[in-house]
Amino acid sequence: MEESTLFRDLLDDLPNGIMAFDLDGNLIYSNRAADTFLHISKSHHSPVIDDRIKQFLGTARNDDVEVIQLSGKSIQLHYLDRFSNGLRVGAALYLTDIVDRHKQEFTANVSHELKTPLTSISGYAEMIETGMAKPDDIPNFASRINREATRMLKLVGDIIKLNELDETQIMEEAEQVDLYEIAKDTIETLEPSAMRHHTTLSLSGESSVVTGNRALLSELVFNLIDNAIRYNRDNGSVAVRVRHHVLTVRDTGIGIPKSHQARIFERFYRVDKSRSKATGGTGLGLAIVREICEQHHAQIRLESREGVGTEISITFPTFHED
Ligand SMILES: Nc1ncnc2c1ncn2[C@@H]1O[C@H](COP(=O)(O)OP(=O)(O)O)[C@@H](O)[C@H]1O
Ligand SMILES: [Mg+2]
Repeated sequence: MEESTLFRDLLDDLPNGIMAFDLDGNLIYSNRAADTFLHISKSHHSPVIDDRIKQFLGTARNDDVEVIQLSGKSIQLHYLDRFSNGLRVGAALYLTDIVDRHKQEFTANVSHELKTPLTSISGYAEMIETGMAKPDDIPNFASRINREATRMLKLVGDIIKLNELDETQIMEEAEQVDLYEIAKDTIETLEPSAMRHHTTLSLSGESSVVTGNRALLSELVFNLIDNAIRYNRDNGSVAVRVRHHVLTVRDTGIGIPKSHQARIFERFYRVDKSRSKATGGTGLGLAIVREICEQHHAQIRLESREGVGTEISITFPTFHED
């Protein structure tokens, strides 16, 4: 096979888009992924890219990165200068589908998270099966198996929720939901957990109706109060407030160090993995909260101080005057 054909085939097999332009911004090469991202055929142009590349050639520096929206996808454009014999002869663009990349990372993380409990379940089961476990150990091993299996079920449940959130447009069947009622119900549900953690729950404010999906809003409130209980201290408290389309959950807990605050809404991100796991966490609660907020066009605000406590506020849009 001729070398240039080999390279062309290789470039066409890449999941990332590659495009080359001359100094006037004319397209001289694009691989298959780029054509697919941009829905172009060899003889056509993408107006968005034409526009970006003109701008890039005029102002951008080598290695500049920008994210654009293209038919519902977030595409990262990585701009590179092209040189020949030390002279700039044009530009190249390297295109990555960001969501795709996040999906790959997510899949890798899921596999890892599932493997840990499965390994310990099969380890304990094997010891019981082979008679290596003494009769006295069996109740203890059985309860560990049960605990790990429960954790896995929760994890799988959260993953399914995230998947559904990725795929459905929930606002199409939105209803009027009273945040105060939801907060009240959720506090009742979580009261036993609060007692176990020696934490008190309180609710203040007034009825406030927002447009959204009841089940998802319950999930959101649950995840915030659940965290406020689980990352609290002994004899700590959780104060929930609902007022004028704003829900606030404040706790007197361990707080979140500044350096972690920007990342806790990412999937599987935890400040202290062992504390999260010991209290039954999956690392997905706040990622679910973030998705639900996005679907409801709600804003999240986080204020936290280490050793003092955390306050998370969710502000819902007001669609009408009341
Ligand atoms: N109220 C809070 N106080 C202190 N840390 C918190 C609080 N809420 C969340 N976090 C931190 O953010 C991480 C991510 O939260 P989340 O997505 O709900 O996962 P998890 O299953 O671990 O609770 C937690 O592991 C914890 O480190
Ligand atoms: Mg949580």
